[in-house]
Amino acid sequence: MAIRIIVKDPDPVLRERAIQVTKFNSNLHKLLTDMAETMYDAEGVGLAAPQVGISKRVIVVDVGDDNGLIEMVNPEIVEQEGEQIGPEGCLSIPNLNGDVRRFQQIKVNGFDRNGKPITLEASDYLARAFQHEIDHLNGVLFTDIADSIYDVSAKPRGRGE
Ligand code: CO
Repeated sequence: MAIRIIVKDPDPVLRERAIQVTKFNSNLHKLLTDMAETMYDAEGVGLAAPQVGISKRVIVVDVGDDNGLIEMVNPEIVEQEGEQIGPEGCLSIPNLNGDVRRFQQIKVNGFDRNGKPITLEASDYLARAFQHEIDHLNGVLFTDIADSIYDVSAKPRGRGE
């Protein structure tokens, strides 16, 4: 296991469309394990592979609920419903938070680290975290879509994703 360096905006890797994973091998397992360790070390609630400089469709999320750590490969939102507006931060954009409009509930299809299909239904903050991380895989940052952005450098930071 290893903590990886978190890439910061405006690094161009954050703007690429990440590629689908086709090999569920030991490299993928190491990436997922390192991503989780990196996320916890940074006290974040989610991390996408482009944030550690790897342009692949891989995310980890742990919002501190009963789900614990969720690893998802090639995630895809297949259903969405409702709307929520709330604050977000990003480990790749230190010192900024923003109010972002998201779907209230989503259904996500993807794969676990071994290539087994998984489906997750999420609402509220977990749904927000997933939408934020999946945006990363498409080169989208929360600052692109936020209703408002505010500087939090003088205050303790919100949860980062
Ligand atoms: Co982020």
